[in-house]
Amino acid sequence: MPYRVTVIGTGYLGITHAACMADLGYEVLGLDVDADKIRRLNSGELPIHEPGLEPVLRRGLESGRLRFTTSYEEVAAFGDVHFVCVGTPQKRGEYAADTTYLDNAVEFLAPLLDRECLVVGKSTVPVGTAERLADKLARLAPAGSQAELAWNPEFLREGFAVEDTLHPDRIVLGVRSERAEKRLREVYEPLGEVPIVVTDFATAELVKTAANAFLATKISFINAMAEVCEAAHADVGLLSEALSYDDRIGGRYLNAGLGFGGGCLPKDIRAFMARAGELGADQALTFLREVDAINMRRRARMVDLARELAGGSFHGCTVGVLGAAFKPNSDDIRDSPALAVAVTIGHQGGQVTVYDPIALDNARKAHPELNYGESAVEAVRGAHVVLLLTEWQEFVQLDPVELGAVVAARRIVDGRNALNAGMWRSAGWHYRALGRP
Ligand code: UGA
Repeated sequence: MPYRVTVIGTGYLGITHAACMADLGYEVLGLDVDADKIRRLNSGELPIHEPGLEPVLRRGLESGRLRFTTSYEEVAAFGDVHFVCVGTPQKRGEYAADTTYLDNAVEFLAPLLDRECLVVGKSTVPVGTAERLADKLARLAPAGSQAELAWNPEFLREGFAVEDTLHPDRIVLGVRSERAEKRLREVYEPLGEVPIVVTDFATAELVKTAANAFLATKISFINAMAEVCEAAHADVGLLSEALSYDDRIGGRYLNAGLGFGGGCLPKDIRAFMARAGELGADQALTFLREVDAINMRRRARMVDLARELAGGSFHGCTVGVLGAAFKPNSDDIRDSPALAVAVTIGHQGGQVTVYDPIALDNARKAHPELNYGESAVEAVRGAHVVLLLTEWQEFVQLDPVELGAVVAARRIVDGRNALNAGMWRSAGWHYRALGRP
C-alpha cells in the first residue's frame, strides 16, 4: 500500500475509519487528545459499543498496521493522507454547530506539515468550513501548497459502521486539484466498485447535511401521518407498509414511532438551518423547523399516552421503561428519545425504572436520578405502565405472558411500533402504540 494514513479524532467515525483502513492493508496511525482512550484502543479495547468493530480493531493492532497516539508530531511525520474525524456538536443554547475541535485539529497539525500530504475532512460541517480550513492550512503549513485539503463526508450509521465503511453506497470527493482526486481514488480503490461523485468543497459539505435532512424529513413525514392516523382512528403501520411498495417512496426510514435522536440527525438539521440563515437562504429550510417540531412532539405524545394509561397522573405510579439508547444495537444515548421520555415522566412524579441491554452504564452516568433494572423483567416488576422506547430485538421477543406475571397492571405503550399487538392483547395486555388505534 503506497500511502500511510492517519485518523484524527477517535469517536464512532474515527475508530471505525482507522480500523477499516488498516483492514484494507494500510498502515494507520490514529490520534486523540484523550490519553486514556488511546491507551484502551492500543490494548484492543473499544470505548464504544459497535457490533463487529472489535475484531477489526484487534486484527489491525495484531498485524502491526494499526496503532494510536496522542502526538501530533508523530502523526504529521507519519501520514501521506490525514483524515480528520473529530466531532462537531451543537453549540450550547444555539442551533449552530461548534467547529472548535476541527479548528483545533488543523491548528495543531498544520504547523507540523513540512512535506507533501493531503488533509481530508470527514466531519459533518456547516457549508463553507472547508474553504475556511483550506485557508488556515495554506497559512500555517510549512509545506505550503504541498499540503492540500479535501472534503470527503462520511455516511456511516452507528450499529452498521463497519459494513457502511467497507461497503459504502457512494463516495463523495470534494477536491480542488487533480492530484487530490487521484490520491483519494487510489486510497479507496480497495473498496472495489463504488460510485464516486467528485465535487467542489461546498457541494461535498452539503451532500452530507442534505442527506441527513432528507432522512429526518422522511421520519417526521411518517410521524406526522401517525398524528393524523391517531385523530382519524387509522393505522400508521399499515399506511407505511402500503406506501413502501411504491419504489419512488420506499420503506426505509418510514417507521413511525418515537422519532429520531442520536448525535447526528437532530443537531445536523439544526446546524443546517442556522447556516442557511447566515447565508441568507433561511426560507429554503424553514420546513426543517417543522421536521424538528414533529419529532419533538412524538416525545410529548408518548408521555401523554403513558399518563393516560396511568389513569391521568404519574403520582404513585411505577413506570417500567424498556430502552435507553437512541436506537437498537448502540450504547449511544445522545439526544435519546427514550431517555427524554423517561426523564420527563420522572419530573412529572412517576417512579421510573429503565433497562437497556447495552446503554445502561451511559444512561446511569447521565441520569443518576432515574432507577435502573438489570433486566427487562426487573425493570417492569410492579409497574403500572410499561413503555417500549428502543426496539432492541431482545424486547421484540419478550414473552407477554411471562412479563404479565410480574407487572402490577398489564398496560404497555409500544413507542416503536415493534411489538405484535395481537399477541400482547391476547395475553391480557392493554396495548397502545403511537399512530395506531
Ligand atoms: C445517521 C445517518 O443515517 C447516517 O447516514 C449518517 O452518517 C449519521 O447519521 C451521521 O451523520 O453520522 P445514525 O445517527 O447512526 O445515522 O442513526 P440512524 O440509523 O439514521 O437513526 C437515527 C434515528 O432515527 C434513530 O433514533 C432511529 O430510531 C430513528 N428512526 C430511524 C426512526 O425513528 N424511524 C425510522 O424509520 C428510522
